[in-house]
Amino acid sequence: MSIAWNPETQEWHLGNGLTSWVLGVLPNGWIGIHHAGAPLAAGPSYAHLGPHDFRGFDNRVGEPVALALPVPGLGDFRVPALVVEAADGSQVVEPRYVAHRILAGKPALPGLLPATYAEDEREADTLEIDLADGPTGLVATLSLSIFRDWPVVARSMRLKNFGAARVVVRTAMSATLDLPDDDWRLVTFSGAWARERMPVDRPVVPGRQGVGSLRGGSGNEHNPSLVLRRPATTEAAGECWGAVLAWSGNFLAEAEVGHFGTTRLRLGLHPEQFAWPLEPGASFTTPEALLAWSGGGLSALSASLHEVLGRRMARGPWRDRPRPVLLNNWEGTYFDFDHDRLVAMAAEARATGAELFVLDDGWFGRRDSDDRSLGDWVVDRRKLPQGIDGLARAVRAQGLLFGLWIEPEMVSPDSDLFRAHPDWAIGVPGRRRTESRQQLVLDFANPAVVDHVAGAIGDVIASAPIDYVKWDWNRFITEPYSPTLPPDRQGEFFYRYTIGMYELYERLTTRFPDVLFESCASGGARFDAGILAWAPQAWTSDDTDAVERLRIQWGSSFAYPLSSMGAHVSAVPNHQTGRVAPLDFRAAVAMFGAFGYELDPTAMREADRAAVRRQVAFYTERRDLFQYGRFTRLRSPFEGDGNEAAWMVSSADASRAVVAHYRVLQHPWPHRDRLAVRGLDPAARYAVTCWTSFEAPMPTFERGGDELMAVGLGIEPPDPMPEGREAGADGHRLVRGDFTFRLFDLRRA
Ligand code: DGJ
Repeated sequence: MSIAWNPETQEWHLGNGLTSWVLGVLPNGWIGIHHAGAPLAAGPSYAHLGPHDFRGFDNRVGEPVALALPVPGLGDFRVPALVVEAADGSQVVEPRYVAHRILAGKPALPGLLPATYAEDEREADTLEIDLADGPTGLVATLSLSIFRDWPVVARSMRLKNFGAARVVVRTAMSATLDLPDDDWRLVTFSGAWARERMPVDRPVVPGRQGVGSLRGGSGNEHNPSLVLRRPATTEAAGECWGAVLAWSGNFLAEAEVGHFGTTRLRLGLHPEQFAWPLEPGASFTTPEALLAWSGGGLSALSASLHEVLGRRMARGPWRDRPRPVLLNNWEGTYFDFDHDRLVAMAAEARATGAELFVLDDGWFGRRDSDDRSLGDWVVDRRKLPQGIDGLARAVRAQGLLFGLWIEPEMVSPDSDLFRAHPDWAIGVPGRRRTESRQQLVLDFANPAVVDHVAGAIGDVIASAPIDYVKWDWNRFITEPYSPTLPPDRQGEFFYRYTIGMYELYERLTTRFPDVLFESCASGGARFDAGILAWAPQAWTSDDTDAVERLRIQWGSSFAYPLSSMGAHVSAVPNHQTGRVAPLDFRAAVAMFGAFGYELDPTAMREADRAAVRRQVAFYTERRDLFQYGRFTRLRSPFEGDGNEAAWMVSSADASRAVVAHYRVLQHPWPHRDRLAVRGLDPAARYAVTCWTSFEAPMPTFERGGDELMAVGLGIEPPDPMPEGREAGADGHRLVRGDFTFRLFDLRRA
């Protein structure tokens, strides 16, 4: 059991040798955080670490500074975790300790809230602490689960009204964490369409700082995850925290530095445009937040998050299965395709070794452009006279799996669905609806709408042998309102929309358990921990440019595992940037993820098709590493002039690894440079084979794990030196052009 309760000192110690959280009941019944972070020995009291002389409350000297459930109105003037309005309109509640339970395993969250799980009781332990507010009868139950194998704690909160009058929940954070100092840098992951999850790294400063979404989805602008790191922390060493929210809707992720130099982290539902009335007897549960700690740098932090999200948030048969190499027709054809053209593309895809053919947008209604037909999930026989079934069979007859694109939460004003049910599109009666991409969002807070879509999309999937579904979501929510909710419950709208979306996922994945779902939202606008519970992989970004992808995949990798990152090779000039990078360079970047192609293989030169064959072979031979290996960031594309990046994947037993180094532009007279790698066995010898194209490797050489980690692989001069060139002769004068890469394959000798 990794949770101990000491009744003498009124302390809980959640500890697994990798991290410790020590919480205590304070004399006033509040719950204090005495310590969170580095592992401490079980047994001793750590109450002395909790501050005794907090100077913040003028007339309450002695109150604690680090709280598990901060509330407003009682002298802690920092941002609260819980705000509840009582029947008299006051917003003062004081939840005090009444009871706790220590449970083996991890109970599921109610309803459809996505959450991590334990496959057997030994994998996690859970502490539930009940805190009651006398006057309102509100009970807040804090849930903290610690995993046995990872320095990760999952937190959520359940609120139940045991009183006689309605209360209204105005703020209910999934997690807060009070840290005793402000020597931190905050990293959030921000950007826009086609440049998602760029790390933004700044020192914390007095006051509040952070990110959030009020778009109805987690968004491409900011991600529901953050990192706090010590200023000296690097990828390889030092202390850091990572936090992710298992929620695909509106969120808030922020840090507040108080006037005594403490740092409070908050993660949860965005309190703006949120209010949840609780009638007597009713309850409400927040989404789950995961808090990971590392004393060994940022890559180790990411490795813990990758494990917990990839192995215990993702579910279903595809969680651990090799993900197929796919070919998606979107950038190859856009809306301009028919049965024969798709079958020809699939045949070429098969010849290159691809395993899954995906038909993207444009197969239904009269969808010749993006201004119509969303909601009319009936195949367009003009393009596909044999229907989806005929196409799927033709594709599968070639030995490929078949996948289909859907965008189930949307409706086009020009659609039969909208003409029949205009009230199913989100909007405020009597006001105009804002269109985006000529489409509207369906009201998934209305169960009748979810029912209809479950039937319509379910019929499509059932109508043909479909192995994979790409679930898109191409606009955000405006004019939030559901006529199915009474006026005083409209504050529930955004939450209910997200739950309605999860409900559809649940129904479809239950009905079609073997289908692999990939989530997508204009690329990466709903790339979050919550969606992984149904869709174990997501389209990382609409930007397929390899240089941009170095940055996007680097940023995404802080929280999310490679198995969750859809990464495709597309045609040049790149459709997002116009850049022309070599085919092998594009593939060498996309291989670090769930790999595929997004182009028309029939339009390629034979030499390029041959290159694709080699790339697919290279990838599939090492697929377990590329999808499920331990990912380590080595050289950041955000540092220096951003001209280089390096990362690696390695097996758990350190017997194999692939190390990648990328250089965008070539400069003359390069400095001497070796790339030190990590995660190998220092006592082992490794056979190293370097690939600078997928045509043929350079001669294999052998190095010790100690040397590779302490000194590194030769980048300049290159290791090994290309044949016919002596080190020192013209090694430093070699000009090899722009967009170069080196993939080092390492195997224990
Ligand atoms: C946005 C997605 O990100 C693309 O991959 C593609 O599916 C289009 N939507 C289709 O409309």
